[in-house]
Amino acid sequence: MSQRPAILISRRIFPEVVARLRAHFEVQTNEADAVWSRDELIARLQGKAGVFVPTAEPIDAALLAACPDLRAVCSMAVGYNNIDVAACQAHGVMVTHAPDVLTETTADFGFALLLAAARRVGEAERLLRRGEWTKWSVDFMAGADVHGATLGILGMGRIGQAIARRGALGFGMKVIYHNRSRLPEATEAALGGAERVELDALLQRSDHLMIVVPYSAATHHVIGAAELARMKRGAVLVNIARGGVVDDAALAMALRSGHVGAAGLDVFEGEPAVHPALLDLPNTVLTPHIASASEPTRRAMADLAADNLIGLLATGQGAKTPVP
Ligand code: DGY
Repeated sequence: MSQRPAILISRRIFPEVVARLRAHFEVQTNEADAVWSRDELIARLQGKAGVFVPTAEPIDAALLAACPDLRAVCSMAVGYNNIDVAACQAHGVMVTHAPDVLTETTADFGFALLLAAARRVGEAERLLRRGEWTKWSVDFMAGADVHGATLGILGMGRIGQAIARRGALGFGMKVIYHNRSRLPEATEAALGGAERVELDALLQRSDHLMIVVPYSAATHHVIGAAELARMKRGAVLVNIARGGVVDDAALAMALRSGHVGAAGLDVFEGEPAVHPALLDLPNTVLTPHIASASEPTRRAMADLAADNLIGLLATGQGAKTPVP
């Protein structure tokens, strides 16, 4: 009988990464890329020492109690709000995530959404496809400028800083940010004099607001109706963090009234469902949680999760990127 630990990969991933894992483990895969129910996931986790979590499967106390052999949960995402880390610790289960490798790709996409929303790219493209481009007009599809504007960033971790770099150095933007802690002065200086401000000032001063803060109970609906009302009229909001950080229903109302000028959203509460009010609005650019989805980056994320599983359960070298 094999002495190698058994692991589960809960969604389809790159075959090369599966092959690397097969060198160390008995691997059960999900070639059909089916979205398993919680009960199916629990059933498949029986006898498994590790799980490779490509997406946002909830790993909570009840699941851990039902999977007593589990010793490692290795996610290929940087955000791990789907994993109850305290419950994992209580069950002696190690948890890893995948920071750094997706930072630049995700920041690129944040900027893509900002440019698209501010310059009405989605709206203009849809109009053209409908055959409604009939003539030039002086204010036709006129949007907001990105260069030289004030960029507010909520959450100044790795991705926030990568966005700040793009804004300050590439687009000549004034960067202000709200974060628990202040960046070192030298880092602020390198970001064109980025300035840490309170949330209220961030809302009031930003021409464009980029949401990059991790989701937790503390950040649930941190941008709700009251916060949206304090934003500059016509400001653009981009969310590449998690859906629950922004109250989507309140955002839809602020977009409909024009108080928020436009929004670029890659994440949604309850995704893959999207609040229907957002779908009807012309001033939204909506994408299906793909900010990290470049081919090389998705491979790097999967490789890092595999490295973590191998380090924890096969070689004993430990995890490269345990959750902090
Ligand atoms: C992450 O890594 O947290 C991104 O949202 C990609 O899923």
